[in-house]
Amino acid sequence: MALIERFTTAQEDELAREFLANGYVVRDVDDRAALDALRHEIVRLACEHLKCDLPADDGAFLNGIHQRVTVAEINALRLHVFNGLNAHSWCRPTYLSLARSIVEGVVGNELAMQNKVNLSVQMPNDETSTLAVHADVWSAETPYEVVEWTPLVDVYDTKAMYILRPEVNRTVRERMSTLKDGGREFDLFEAYKDEFHWVPVKYGQTLVFSPILLHGNVRNDTAESRWSLNCRLTGLFTPYASDEKCLGRFYTPVTPKVASRIGMNFRAPEGF
Ligand SMILES: [Fe+2]
Repeated sequence: MALIERFTTAQEDELAREFLANGYVVRDVDDRAALDALRHEIVRLACEHLKCDLPADDGAFLNGIHQRVTVAEINALRLHVFNGLNAHSWCRPTYLSLARSIVEGVVGNELAMQNKVNLSVQMPNDETSTLAVHADVWSAETPYEVVEWTPLVDVYDTKAMYILRPEVNRTVRERMSTLKDGGREFDLFEAYKDEFHWVPVKYGQTLVFSPILLHGNVRNDTAESRWSLNCRLTGLFTPYASDEKCLGRFYTPVTPKVASRIGMNFRAPEGF
């Protein structure tokens, strides 16, 4: 029969089911050559900062960065790489291309994207770079967004980030609302530490997750340094939750379709 019963494909339905069940999906990047080239530029910028020669193996160089810099020096290196990367006009288009099929399946194809691609580095035993348990929507980001999170090296165990599964996440609000001080003194990590799920992601894969879910990282107790990129994406025409994190300031339109551009510029005739 040539008639179509559904608006979505089986593949889209499966992606949605997995995202809803787990709060995230991990997939191979859509463009491995783009990821390799992006990572190579990150290594080049790091070597520029360190005034050293380019390494033979980009992955080994990044995994072993703690052998070259101290905890006190890593943020200056990170900022040099972050600024150099974001100065390239190709930075955000390339970054989106890595997860384009997932983002289009989960969010849509008319997108607004965070203005910068963020870079994180967590060296082994570095207490200063841990990210306490949090949900991005608590800092006024839109609940309609997803985070595209891409490691530049394999991540696993404490070198990875953790996420609280959706069914457990649903208990957080209720649990905190019963606390006298509104939960300010409540140790969320301690309360849920057996429920967090560390998400292993290999180099060559990307993780797209909902930042409504509690997530964070702990001290990296592996023998390798973690390098990861992250950037937020939301549907262009979704509501924005605050003046600080709104379209134009925090996100910019990146893939508006021509009919939307015509619609946005339309002025109804007056004087009838
Ligand atoms: Fe976050």
